[in-house]
Amino acid sequence: MNRKYLAGIAAASILTLSLTACGGSRGGGDAAAEGEGGSNEGAKIGVAMPTQQSERWIADGENVKSQLEELGYEVDLQFANDDIPTQVSQIENMINGGVKALVIASIDGTTLTSVLDQAESQDIPVIAYDRLINESETVDYYTTFDNEEVGVQQATSLLTGLGVLDAEGNETGEEGPFDVELFAGSPDDNNATFFWNGAMKTLQPYLDSGVLRVPSGQTDFEQAAILRWLPDTAQDRMEDLLTVGGGERLEGVLSPYDGLSIGIISALTSGGYSADELPVVTGQDAEVGSMKSIIAGEQYSTIFKDVRELGKQAVTMVDALMKGEEPEVNDTETYDNGVKVVPSYLLESEIVTVDNYEAALVETGYYTEDELK
Ligand code: BGC
Repeated sequence: MNRKYLAGIAAASILTLSLTACGGSRGGGDAAAEGEGGSNEGAKIGVAMPTQQSERWIADGENVKSQLEELGYEVDLQFANDDIPTQVSQIENMINGGVKALVIASIDGTTLTSVLDQAESQDIPVIAYDRLINESETVDYYTTFDNEEVGVQQATSLLTGLGVLDAEGNETGEEGPFDVELFAGSPDDNNATFFWNGAMKTLQPYLDSGVLRVPSGQTDFEQAAILRWLPDTAQDRMEDLLTVGGGERLEGVLSPYDGLSIGIISALTSGGYSADELPVVTGQDAEVGSMKSIIAGEQYSTIFKDVRELGKQAVTMVDALMKGEEPEVNDTETYDNGVKVVPSYLLESEIVTVDNYEAALVETGYYTEDELK
């Protein structure tokens, strides 16, 4: 880690959770040291997003871009079509194009080490956006949601939908047994394990006591994981699960992402479940397609992560670094990327069902009522 900016930011590092002493920090110090209107004013910032196949990432990219532009920065925003070599070369081009900071939502958190070495050699600070970048020293800050809590919320909403928990999260005494199947996210996305661990921590007591049963017996992350979060892969797996489970009617499916939920519901529908006998299916991201499904009574729940807030947080971090200041963080323990614990700012998420979507999504201006029709 290049430490040449440490002196420049020393004055700003009295923040409670400053990690300056153990991690160092790059970027922005030079400009600050150069005095008023340092060279980072109007600097170009690279924003690398994984895909445009999912609405949330389009919204993330646009939020970060527009908020940076409002502060006077120039933005190079790229989407990588979920292709790792594309993302690597996009980041290389950003570095060659003179960006002063990088905001990266990785596809595979372990594949960026060598391109990030190039960023390091040019003192370009790197902020991991939503997904942790693993095995690299060159990731300075991370902003995301409390990902384990997202998994807890997914499992909690499954239990609520089944009637095992009531709306306040208290046990109802309902003993089942309920037959459920479990899905996990992409194994190369660090978040997927956090979601899974949070969910399994919540479900395990009910699996142990027999309130929940998994007809396929597939309760390991590796068995449940869906590479690249692809809806079609989830649909195929759900079709397979319907044939191996011994014909039991499923009452619940733990799904970690709305795109997967849509694939899962398609498989269930073509496997003979009518709309009113669909199992309780969870999700994540409050994407429009799933919100419509929730309102129509198909998908049961999703987890709302306000990406406007996530974008704001990333932009605040970039702006601080560009001004030679230390970004604020609120977690310095959870996100170990294999090389270092990355100082993080974690945001909160919320369970959304048909009962609270208006308050959570419409009244907050995230969607208009019309968009959800
Ligand atoms: C994000 C989720 C999203 C998933 C699939 C994860 O890294 O945190 O919000 O559902 O990727 O795009």
